[in-house]
Amino acid sequence: MDKIVVNGGRRLEGTVEVSGAKNAALPILASALLADGEHTFRNTPGLADVHTMLKLLRTMGCEAERLTEGPKGTVKVWTRPAITPEAPYELVKTMRASVLVLGPLVARHGRARVSLPGGCAIGSRPIDQHLKGLEAMGAEITLAEGYVEARAKRLRGATINFDMVTVTGTENVMMAAVLAEGRTVLENAAREPEVEELARVLTKMGARIQGAGTPVITIDGVASLKAVEDHVIVADRIEAGTLLVAAAITGGDVLVKHAVPEHLDAAIQKLREAGCRITAEPHGLRCVGPEVPRSVDITTSEHPGFPTDMQAQLMVLMAVADGTSIITENIFENRFMHVAELDRMGAHISIKGTTAVVKGVQRLSGAPVMATDLRASASLILAGLRAEGHTEVQRVYHLDRGYERLEEKLRSLGADAVRMKA
Ligand code: EPU
Repeated sequence: MDKIVVNGGRRLEGTVEVSGAKNAALPILASALLADGEHTFRNTPGLADVHTMLKLLRTMGCEAERLTEGPKGTVKVWTRPAITPEAPYELVKTMRASVLVLGPLVARHGRARVSLPGGCAIGSRPIDQHLKGLEAMGAEITLAEGYVEARAKRLRGATINFDMVTVTGTENVMMAAVLAEGRTVLENAAREPEVEELARVLTKMGARIQGAGTPVITIDGVASLKAVEDHVIVADRIEAGTLLVAAAITGGDVLVKHAVPEHLDAAIQKLREAGCRITAEPHGLRCVGPEVPRSVDITTSEHPGFPTDMQAQLMVLMAVADGTSIITENIFENRFMHVAELDRMGAHISIKGTTAVVKGVQRLSGAPVMATDLRASASLILAGLRAEGHTEVQRVYHLDRGYERLEEKLRSLGADAVRMKA
């Protein structure tokens, strides 16, 4: 098992490139189940979760590979008419986004058997809204032995009003609706850029979708779809945001290449309030960090609000800010697991329910720390960049699920961060 060792105190400077978005790549790869033939995706990030999704596609009978040659991050998926429409527990337990195959399978193959994902470190995360959507379209759903089984000869269009905004729920039901008979209207749909990106790919396949990126998505079902010849996956807004915070927390000056400003509006606004100078440049976003950040309050919400996936990173910046900041987590019930580790590094953070009170301190000190989930791991690395001395972040496999060689990217900006065997 690897760990990342950071010697803090270096100012980051230079240019760094953002990889393709994990949370766009996962539904896009699942969507390959909707059409037979050879699909080609580029700029697919080399992440553990992407490898898990490729493995899942292979267990169902597709060929799926991330090529080592050719354009960066090229993934090819060959989908055949006969597949085994089943996502086994062994894979779903390592990556809950495996549930994204449910919609495409039932729409294209009339049957899906997918292990129920269960809870995870950040919350209970049920999938009732995914099932509600499929049921409204006529799927027969049964739950047995820890699996959900969905069957339908052909799904029928329906109007579905989600009880809460769900990203993968919207994506799953949208993928099911593209092959349904008639019109489906998704109300209270997620507006995340990854939903829009998936709609772009489905449209390339021949789907008829309107309104992706707004709360109401209208899908007119078609009889069949064709494989995607070429799609370049959009840049990862959360990785971009994490790199902006790396610049901010070291008082650095970094150009984050490929960052899309419109995807990061809420995070940019908070970074500016904290004293960062953020400018949109022709190829990305530049962040010049302040000497001492100012405290700002943050409340997570669905897009276009402040993303829960950036909460831990901004909390680290607030941990060394001038003043006290209130951070409220509204999406997941257990997403403050980084707090105890940050406090071990000298931060002053206390939690009351869904709120963290962060009293800024002047100094953090390096310590051995343990990551418990993906964004928590990223926040500990950011804390290590700022801390005095030596920080060892253990259980880096969480980080590798969502960041492509983060320590190498930070090192290219002047950080002292290396990966070692734990
Ligand atoms: N929810 C339900 N029922 C459902 C679906 C969701 O109660 O059927 C609840 C969840 O428990 C949660 C809230 O609704 O409290 C929102 O969850 P959502 O479904 O939007 O989350 P998700 O689709 O499972 C995606 C990302 C997460 C990201 C969230 C929120 C992917 C693969 N994952 O998860 O990414 O935090 O949206 O933006 O797209 C990460 O990358 O670190 C990560 C956790």
